[in-house]
Amino acid sequence: MVLSFENGGDFDRARELRAFDESKAGVKGLVDSGVERVPLIFNRTWIGFTDQDTDPTTDESPHSIPVIDLRCIHMDPAWRSEIVRDVQDASRRWGFFQVVNHGIPESLLDEMLEGVRRFHEQDTQLKKAFYTRDRSKKVLYMSNFDLFSAPTANWRDTLYVTASDPSDREELPEVCRDILIGYSARVRQLAYTLLELISEALGLKPSYLKEMECAEKMLILGHYYPSCREPELTMGTTIHADNDFLTILLQDHIGGLEVLYENQWVEVVPLQGALIVNIGDLLHVLSNDKFISVNHRVLSKSEGPRISVASFFRAQDMMGNASRFYGPIPELISEENPPVYRNIDLKEYMDYYIGKGLNGTSALTPFRI
Ligand code: OGA
Ligand code: NI
Repeated sequence: MVLSFENGGDFDRARELRAFDESKAGVKGLVDSGVERVPLIFNRTWIGFTDQDTDPTTDESPHSIPVIDLRCIHMDPAWRSEIVRDVQDASRRWGFFQVVNHGIPESLLDEMLEGVRRFHEQDTQLKKAFYTRDRSKKVLYMSNFDLFSAPTANWRDTLYVTASDPSDREELPEVCRDILIGYSARVRQLAYTLLELISEALGLKPSYLKEMECAEKMLILGHYYPSCREPELTMGTTIHADNDFLTILLQDHIGGLEVLYENQWVEVVPLQGALIVNIGDLLHVLSNDKFISVNHRVLSKSEGPRISVASFFRAQDMMGNASRFYGPIPELISEENPPVYRNIDLKEYMDYYIGKGLNGTSALTPFRI
């Protein structure tokens, strides 16, 4: 595979992206083969892609994302309304929070991270069988969903799983089959609980968002961020907001996830046993800008690999051919609060999101009124 590290006259970006993709071995494959420097296709500084990182360093930020304790939500109505207020405040100001005492045992979280590690670290030949960009597949593994559209590639490989019902068992990768099924069931339950709290936080009845089918479909992304010798030259994940209603993220102890808050990058410091929750673009639209889907990114690190598991909650058919429209919730609009978005065809939105790739711009811009 030809990879350039310096800009010579013969650097052919498209050719190098193709060669990398055809290797089917991902960034991990590069690192395993002894590549120590960051190839130009991954080098964001070379194309001048800076992700607003001229801002003050995150270490100096006095802020940290809110942590919400879910222990008492079903026990005491007074506690519950306090939690709803916390969810409301966090969703409005941060678009991100962490939850503790969420009901999923820590051992299950650890096993899920280990399952993703086993997938990425299994025999390359076995792993390659899953490498594809065909989104109709229930299980796919690839590096950079936007490899050919984004301005710069990220130092990250990902396993995508949409099938996680016991009935899909045979289609799941053997090395993480059981834990995918076990984790999905629990995280889906948590998503329903969170949608209830978020519905209430919007002043709606608790079942509102679930009935709108905001969590009909779950996509699990098992990210693997190999360690990098030149971490300042590349990104783990470029600045973006999520293309779903709600995300529940599990990260390991390495760190590197940063959230944009008041125009500063704030690190989401790993908190043992916690899960990170964030509002996606589509919930941002439903709430008519009341709750925000916030930009975030993952830095590359010299430590690693870093492993994270993002569960994306979506409507059925977002990728399919059937049109499905979502716009600001009627109860939340009024004369003083006119709709800020037109009704969005989910397929049109997804095509736009994927087509532009992670490039620092919002995928909601074309849909704003
Ligand atoms: C994502 C994401 C963060 C992480 O999958 O959209 O932002 O820590 N992941 O991997
Ligand atoms: Ni994200």
